Amino acid sequence: MKKIVTGGTIVTATETYQADVLIEDGKISKIGKELMDTEAEIIDATGQYVFPGGIDPHTHLDMPFNNTVTDDDWKTGTIAAAFGGTTTILDFCLTAGEVKLIDAVEKWHEKAKNKAVIDYGFHLMIGDLNENTLAELPQVLQQEGISSIKVFLAYAKEFQATDRTLYQAFKVGKEMGAVVMVHCENGSVIDELVEEAKALGHTEPIYHALTRPPQLEGEATKRAIELAHLADAELYVVHVTCKEAVDEIISARKKGYKVYGETCPPYLVLDQTALAKPNFEGAKYVWSPPLRPKEHQQVLWNALKAKQLQTIGSDQCSFNFNGKKRLGIDDFSKIPNGGPFIEDRFSILYSEGVAKGKITINEFVDMISTNAAKIFGLFPQKGTIAVGSDADIVLFDPNKERVISADTHHMNVDYSAFEGLTVKGEPVSVLSRGEFVVKDKEFVGEFGRGQYIKRKVKKGEFKEAVTN
Ligand code: URP
Ligand code: ZN
Ligand code: ZN
Repeated sequence: MKKIVTGGTIVTATETYQADVLIEDGKISKIGKELMDTEAEIIDATGQYVFPGGIDPHTHLDMPFNNTVTDDDWKTGTIAAAFGGTTTILDFCLTAGEVKLIDAVEKWHEKAKNKAVIDYGFHLMIGDLNENTLAELPQVLQQEGISSIKVFLAYAKEFQATDRTLYQAFKVGKEMGAVVMVHCENGSVIDELVEEAKALGHTEPIYHALTRPPQLEGEATKRAIELAHLADAELYVVHVTCKEAVDEIISARKKGYKVYGETCPPYLVLDQTALAKPNFEGAKYVWSPPLRPKEHQQVLWNALKAKQLQTIGSDQCSFNFNGKKRLGIDDFSKIPNGGPFIEDRFSILYSEGVAKGKITINEFVDMISTNAAKIFGLFPQKGTIAVGSDADIVLFDPNKERVISADTHHMNVDYSAFEGLTVKGEPVSVLSRGEFVVKDKEFVGEFGRGQYIKRKVKKGEFKEAVTN
């Protein structure tokens, strides 16, 4: 079935213009003025922006973590993503404890199959980088079309890579043309600070933030940058939160190092005081790295504006407050780390960024979609509105206002970290490969329609770089 989106304003990372979009067989086949086709369904987008679907490069759906499992699976997580204007997610396939990496990937396919309502790919998250996993890694990346590896410098007891294994991961990244994503915090020193705090009798959620200071994010970021450079590899620093890390990224990029940085919505609008809320409510805001003192927010906005940070990931990793978060009621270090953000990523960046004049609408598209497509090997199939691209389209009403609330969101979580925040602008309808998944704010998609996207793995070559 053909469709024509008519009357809207198309916005890409580089252009804003009025034109119609013809969709055929899930692809954009024509863009122009007053397009006509008697067989096409007409979609009136008057007064709306026609954005490329959001690409969320950082999600953890149905993932075992911190002795429990995240509460959004591939049904609720992808529905919430679609309502929020996201049409592709890149989820972390966790491989810790697996005998073979390929078995872990198979398990992740099983989780997503028959559930996902939007398209998806996997990053391979290497929780245990050893002789066997290192040997298997190149073949799995090639076979599965996975062009990104993730390594942790945090979570000392579970996943933390040594400097040696981190360097080995960078060498594989270089060899395979895969970007290496790193969670940059010094996990061993954090564990020591946690023990010190507990020895003094501190149990409350605020100590999660106080035992993970920004210096330890800055230090780990610098270490990852230097080791990536030594291996001539491409580094993507996930969830950057603070000046200490931003400064390291800027200084590396000035030297021409291949470093990208991502930040996430909560770090742009919330601050560390949230963890001090009474009655254990601070646990709702426990994730890693933690929220920072307010002054770091402006540093992140400045770095986004200056293109020193390129992407916005949700870091969706949801745990119910009246449920799994309570595992840490007597001990802050047992609160599962993570929050529910997949649905509000797009709206918060638009409202806090574009509507408040911090970034332009084209910069918004770059950060919410295009840059992730380029860094992770999806462009130009995804990440733009262009002839030949997938018809992943968000029809967005910039004049609508909405108050974020757990009462109305679609995530499988009993709280919102942004409860009560008014956001300007709203995704009204969302198409994935030309099919409505959300139509006039109603879910009309089908479970299992989302497709696994094999990405380009260019052995020995770097992917298309994001321009400065
Ligand atoms: O606290 C967080 N961010 N949980 C998800 C896992 C991670 O570190 O990204
Ligand atoms: Zn992380
Ligand atoms: Zn994460």
